[in-house]
Amino acid sequence: MADKLSLLYNGNTFEYPVLQGSEGEHAVDVSTLRKDTGLVTLDYGYLNTGSTQSKITFVDGEKGILRYRGYAIEDLATSATFPEVAWLLIHGELPTEQEVVHFRKLLTENALIHENLLSFFREVPPNAHPMGILASVMNALGLFNTKFYDDEQTGSEQFNITAASLISKIRTVAAFSYKASIGEPFVYPEADRSYCSNFLNMMFSSRTRHYEPHPVMEKILNALLIIHADHEQNCSTSTVRMVGSSGASLYASICAGVCALWGPRHGGANQAVLETLLDIQKSGMTVEQVIERAKSKTDPYRLSGFGHRVYKSYDPRARVLKSLLNELLDCGEHVHDPLLDIAIELEDKVLKDDYFIERKLYPNVDFYSGIFYRAMGIPTDMLTVMFAIGRLPGWIAHWKEMHDDKNTKINRPRQLYIGEPARKFVPRYARG
Ligand code: SDX
Repeated sequence: MADKLSLLYNGNTFEYPVLQGSEGEHAVDVSTLRKDTGLVTLDYGYLNTGSTQSKITFVDGEKGILRYRGYAIEDLATSATFPEVAWLLIHGELPTEQEVVHFRKLLTENALIHENLLSFFREVPPNAHPMGILASVMNALGLFNTKFYDDEQTGSEQFNITAASLISKIRTVAAFSYKASIGEPFVYPEADRSYCSNFLNMMFSSRTRHYEPHPVMEKILNALLIIHADHEQNCSTSTVRMVGSSGASLYASICAGVCALWGPRHGGANQAVLETLLDIQKSGMTVEQVIERAKSKTDPYRLSGFGHRVYKSYDPRARVLKSLLNELLDCGEHVHDPLLDIAIELEDKVLKDDYFIERKLYPNVDFYSGIFYRAMGIPTDMLTVMFAIGRLPGWIAHWKEMHDDKNTKINRPRQLYIGEPARKFVPRYARG
């Protein structure tokens, strides 16, 4: 593979270095292109454009590979806890036993949110979307943590406390938002529960209902959060980096990431998948009709849960979820969900359909995740909140990496202007 790219333009030859990543990928460094040639690159959606170099996550879309800091997602999802994976993403190594104990202590000590915030949950409209609430409160948490602003050193203990505080509190915010929406009193986090057990307990127990998370549901939630924890430069993570590159706080950057994740082309797809399955169940539409509609070029409708900008093969995270289906069905907690039958039929027919085969559109992480969350009792409009809980450590890791990278500049893309050329101002009376 050549180590430089030659560009012939206007009779001149320009050379640009070709860099090689640790997994054999190559990138041409065009950082002097405009100074050399006056040209900028144009790449809608950044299909061909790398925004940074990163050591956090490696994705091979053709081979269906996903690794966090070199560890395969299949191993992490079945052998690690979500807090361990959060530590791995942020610090680069799996935590030692001492670090596990210390991080667990930070998560426990920082699980509560300031009592002044509780009225917000009660004042928002009862049908307010949980992602709007989450974005608002995650930003508001920063208003109560003035210590972080004094010491933004990403290698400091204060940064660790802030990271643990965000990862712990997002559970509390999600659960309190749900409790307020159903008119039940808040259930507070408990010191002796695991990360996942604490969340499920805050969501589903109450003073009149004893609830103990089923061990299989806890295991499945742990795996779900791990497979959502990071995915290199996806839309929401790039947003966190973009906002953070201006010098905005970690809280403001996370709030922006939550907002980006909300979109149905991104994290909002898991909610859209479930709504599609519910539509098929309630409307009597057939799976074939839904597939035909998704193929139509006159209809903007797309089949949520299928396709991916990077994966042109089966999303390894969807494969992990499929491998957990039998455990879900056999655990006794799960009343067989007819939506699962529809999902399996839909996937089977899509994978045999030439339109999807030609375009390499396979099930992505969002296709099955909603079925699992529904089995736990998570309401449909909270599915993207669950995605955000999982993705938060990845956002923090990328914000930290961006801050630690001496090459970081404020993100400010160029454009190609295609508007009006210069023209004289027209006074109001002469505008016709
Ligand atoms: C996530 O980036 C990440 O890493 C994201 C994520 C993460 O962990 O952060 O993995 C999480 O966001 C997963 C994706 C969830 N979104 C959905 O499931 C929504 C449905 N999928 C599509 O909207 C779409 O596949 C995208 C947005 C995911 C990817 O779109 P691309 O890469 O821009 O692909 P494209 O629009 O260029 O489509 C190529 C062709 C087009 O047809 P043609 O014009 O070539 O005829 O494929 C078609 C598209 O119309 N197509 C689909 C389709 N996805 C693509 N047609 C029907 N249904 C679909 N789902």
